[in-house]
Order: sequence, then structure tokens, then C-alpha cells
Amino acid sequence: MTKHVKIFDTTLRDGEQAPGFSMSSGQKLAMAEALEGLGVDIIEAGFAAASPGDFEAIKTIAETVKDSTICSLARCNEGDIRASGEAIKPAQSGRIHTFIATSPLHREYKLKMSKDEIVRRAIEGVELCRQYTDDVEFSAEDAIRTERDYLKRVVEAAIKAGATTINIPDTVGYTTPEEIQNLFEFLTTEIEGADKAVFSAHCHDDLGLAVANSLAAIRGGARQVECALNGIGERAGNCATEEVVMALNTRKDFFGLSTGIKTEGLYGASKLLATLTGNPVPRNKAIVGKNAFAHESGIHQHGVLANRETYEIMKPEDVGVSTDNLVLGKHSGRAALKNRASKLGFEMSDNQLQSVFVAFKQLADAKKEVFDADLEALILGEAVGTQGPWEIKSLYVSAGSDENRHPLATVRLQHEDGREQEQVSAASGPMNAVFDAISHITDKPMKLEHFSVNSVSGGEDAMAEATVRVTTEFESYQGRGASTDTVLAGAKAYLDVINRIERRAVRQSSIAAQH
Ligand code: KIV
Ligand code: ZN
Repeated sequence: MTKHVKIFDTTLRDGEQAPGFSMSSGQKLAMAEALEGLGVDIIEAGFAAASPGDFEAIKTIAETVKDSTICSLARCNEGDIRASGEAIKPAQSGRIHTFIATSPLHREYKLKMSKDEIVRRAIEGVELCRQYTDDVEFSAEDAIRTERDYLKRVVEAAIKAGATTINIPDTVGYTTPEEIQNLFEFLTTEIEGADKAVFSAHCHDDLGLAVANSLAAIRGGARQVECALNGIGERAGNCATEEVVMALNTRKDFFGLSTGIKTEGLYGASKLLATLTGNPVPRNKAIVGKNAFAHESGIHQHGVLANRETYEIMKPEDVGVSTDNLVLGKHSGRAALKNRASKLGFEMSDNQLQSVFVAFKQLADAKKEVFDADLEALILGEAVGTQGPWEIKSLYVSAGSDENRHPLATVRLQHEDGREQEQVSAASGPMNAVFDAISHITDKPMKLEHFSVNSVSGGEDAMAEATVRVTTEFESYQGRGASTDTVLAGAKAYLDVINRIERRAVRQSSIAAQH
């Protein structure tokens, strides 16, 4: 059996479909390029039939990404499969992932279909997928709660119909390591035609076991693992890409297996996802959390200084966490900036480098020292963060504890179509006054759900990173902004949301015009 475990990343499908993690097409493309850079074998780019926006995003990714296989999800029905087939057409290497539920609960209450009918649908679905591509994945949804003999029957039929990957999802995060290892041992040895397909695990984290279960499935014979960066996904999420990869990597002595992931890119990719979706990574998150390599207690520090291996099983550099902190100053040039960014896991195009360089010079003028964390915030804001149409031209805020006067914000915005407008707003707090002024100018009333500001590095002139979560009548959005000025960072985060909404509306009307 091969020693290579394929990494099938579903950040852009199972991850993106979870509430609070939606991304625009441009953001999905930026994320897909980062996944390609990481060396992911298969990128599940979305669910083509879900919406015209999903279809377009998959197609754009398929046109752009060359080194990873691009996959679209489809239920076992003609419309879904044809939409997926069309969306992946431009890909150098394209896959359709088709699924149907097989467990008694799903058969009876969701599908209202007999066992025979489901087998027939699975066969027809896989055969139709094969008209578009030779690379077809079949999933038996809720496989873990499916009777073994019936699961065997469905999987054998799917392989016979032409499926080249068989995915066994733990859809509800119910299994345990021993149970799933045993199931994979059974399937990979007892299924007729098992040698014609790669077996795959797809574990959810409802009981906090997704990574352990995926590793156990691999021990049982799985040679593809489905995972998402930062563990995002439906409900409690999916198996975390960075965790399963680093477990296989760090314990190669135990598993004897490898992946094609360039692990030094993990931290940058995780941070990019957090920025694009506005969901910060918890400090204590394994592999990519801020504390993952921090040693605070005296005993630990003493040990690490004497020999890093006393308390470190991985090197921070192995996952792209930088340890030398002081980076650049105002005399540093483009090459130094590019080099440093690359060490932090960010590969920038010439255009991105140019805009980051301009922002870097401004920052270096405002700050004495530019740390890695500052640079990271800057790159994420300039190179991959969202752009216009609205831009802040000026912002002035007055605030204080005078009972007779409300905090005031004067905000001037410019639209890319040339419009410029100023608004003065008063509110109970200075940030609320800023948000109110921005909403007024852009004519976008929104409900603020959450606002937070973090300092990304040390010192009194540290960069601030602000995130906001707001709801409109229809949806929830996240936005992010960074600046050495806290109020400006908050204003940028709020405007980031408005820009997302406007760009989305423009995109949707252009898609509608094409149909
Ligand atoms: O969890 C699940 O069952 C899925 C399938 C669509 C593979 O996400
Ligand atoms: Zn899932």
C-alpha cells in the first residue's frame, strides 16, 4: 500500500458553508492559491449547484490553479452533477465529488428512499460524473451510522460504476478511533474492487475527535484525508488540516506515512483564512495558535533555553512561525521586504509587493520598528484584503467624559466612481459615531454584533487589528482593518464590510445580466 496520504482540503466547501465563514469569489481564489502553494493534492472549491456565485468561484479557481486537483461537490442528481462538470471543465485536473446518504435515519426521514433506490442513484450519479472526468469521488453520507453490509453493497456498486475515490464520512462526528480504524480495515480488505479506489476519511469534530479519528482511519487503510484549515466546517468543524498534517509529519516514526504539504506555509495559510473570514484563530489552537510555541513558565523557559526539545516537539519554523522578531526599518528595500514576507509564508506577486511596499514605507515612518506581526497585518490588509469601491479620505473623532457632549466623528469617504462625501455623526461612543457616519454616507444601515481590537505587536506605537461582525437584513458579514491608529483600524474594518456588500451586489448583477 502506498505510503502517501492525499490531502483533500475542504476549507472552501465544508468550511465555507458554515455560518460566519462565507467568502467572496476573490477571497476564495486567494485562499485557493494559498492551498495550492501549500501543496494540497485536492482542493474542494465549492458546491457548484448551490448558487451562481459558487459556480463562478469554482470555475475561476479551476482556470487559475494548476498544481492541485480542483473538485466540486454534487448530490447524486443530474442537475448538480452537470453543474459540477461544467464548473471544473477549465481545470488541468478536475474531480467531481458526488454523494448520497446511506444510513437508516437519512434513508427514512431525509431521502424517503429504499435501499435499492439509493444504490441505483449512486450508480447513475457516478456514471454521469464519469462523462465529465475520470476522477470521481463517491461519498456515502452518514456512512458511520450505516449498516456494514449495506455500506459494503453501496461502495462496491460505486466502484463498479467508476468511482476512483471512496469517501466514508463521519457526518455527525459520532465515531471513535477504534471503531473507525476497524471500519476502514473491513472496507479496504472485504470490498470487491477495493484495489481500484483510494479510501478516504471525512471526520467532523462534534466530540472533539475529528483529528484522532482521521488518523485512526489512516491506520486502517485510508490514503486520503479530508480536512479544513483551522478545523472549520459544519457545526464543530472538520479535521484540521494543519493538525493532521503535523501529526503525520512529527510522528513519522509511528505512522510511517507522508503528505506532500510544505508545512512552512501552514501558519501563513491559517492566518490568511482567519483574516479573510474575520474569525481569529484561538490563542491555544494547536499548531497555528499564538501560544502554540510560546513558553511562559520559568521552568519551561529554562528547559527550552538549555535544549529546545525539552518542551518542543516541532520547530516553530517548520510551520512558518517566525522566531526572530525584529524585522525591517524605514531604510529596508523591496528585496528585504519580499524575503521577510516569504519567510512568514506569504508569496507576493510584483503588484502585491508594490502595494505592500508603499504601505510598509508609511508604516515604517509612523513606527520606529516594524515587527513580523506588523508586517503580517500589513500584508494581509494590502495584498489580499478587500479593496474599494469606498476609501477613507479623512477621519476625525472627539471623545471624552463630558456629560453634556456626545462623542463626534467627522468622516470623509470617496467612492471609486468619483463621489466624495463628508458626514458628521454623534453617538454614545466614538466608534459608534464613526460607524454611524460611514453607514450614513454609504446608505448601508447595519446592526453591529461584535467589535474587537487587538494589538498585533508590542510598544506604544503597535499596529492595531480590528474586526467587526455585522448583520444586514439578509446576512452576517465580517470585516477587518489594521492601522497604527485604533479608531482608524475600526473604521477600516467597518468599511471593509460595506465594500464586500457593494462588490457582491455588482458581481451578482453582472452574473444576472449574463443569464
Ligand atoms: O459530512 C459529510 O457527510 C459531508 C459530505 C458531503 C461528504 O460533508
Ligand atoms: Zn462534512
